[in-house]
Amino acid sequence: MSEEAVSDIIREILELKGEREAVILAHNYQRADVQEIADFRGDSLGLARLAASTDAKVIVFCGVFFMAETANILSPDKITLLPDLDAGCPLADTIRAEDVRKLREENPGVPVVTYVNSSAAVKAESDFCCTSGNAVEVVRSVSSERIIFTPDRNLGEYVRKATGKEIIAWDGCCPVHDRITADEIGELLDRHPGAVFVAHPECRPEVLRLAHEVASTEGIYGFANRTAAREIIVGSEEGMLFRLRRENPDKTFYFPPGGSLCPNMKLITLKKVLRSLRGLEPRVEVPEDTRVRALRAVERMISLG
Ligand code: 13P
Ligand code: SF4
Repeated sequence: MSEEAVSDIIREILELKGEREAVILAHNYQRADVQEIADFRGDSLGLARLAASTDAKVIVFCGVFFMAETANILSPDKITLLPDLDAGCPLADTIRAEDVRKLREENPGVPVVTYVNSSAAVKAESDFCCTSGNAVEVVRSVSSERIIFTPDRNLGEYVRKATGKEIIAWDGCCPVHDRITADEIGELLDRHPGAVFVAHPECRPEVLRLAHEVASTEGIYGFANRTAAREIIVGSEEGMLFRLRRENPDKTFYFPPGGSLCPNMKLITLKKVLRSLRGLEPRVEVPEDTRVRALRAVERMISLG
């Protein structure tokens, strides 16, 4: 596409955004050009908070399906648009509502904490929601020493180590983070002896063991900004590079050489954002009975502050 065509698309997006009283939220893994036109960028927790507090009539969610669902759970009176409904999350797809009910039957009385990377139906079966940014805090706040944790086994293990609680973890994982190996990170650390390693908690335990810091996507930006190191190895999705470079032009970033790209996140394009603002679709609407039950779990998380 020519530069002129791109600026025409951006101009129309900005015009329509005003007319529709819309807000554009973009997850940190979005394409750079999509992040550029967004009103807010952030991690799942930050974007959920924004979705809960915005006065806009329309939320254009540039992210994946569960994130748009979470926005709709929190703001049912607003129109929530996901510019491509195929933007799913394979981690969220590892578990269904009936799986959570079965876990409860097998472990009577044990509270269920569910990572926000899950469907609304799964959240509706859960007691608490959490994100990568507050999973440890949420599990600490639950007054039980045994916790059912779904659906990410790596985040579950990280939480187990941090809280000392007994975690009954669902065996799901994020294919993007789970494929990062300790060997490739070890090699990067050997090649760049002055570098520090910051990792997302969806990485495997042996990868997290090598990390100087474990953080949500937003937390990774914070760490990159404040560390005195000039070289930073990032155990997360490659879309992070856009902001990391812009905020730290004097630092060098390395990503796992085997690749760490989330194809679902890249399905959202400027053209699709424009199309969804034009037609006010595709919409994400959680059925009301599911929404109300999922809201309890999400609100318990949001209320932790
Ligand atoms: P964050 O909440 O840390 O942004 O992570 C979301 C996600 O999908 C990670 O793969
Ligand atoms: Fe889901 Fe992983 Fe993509 Fe995050 S990076 S949206 S957890 S598949």
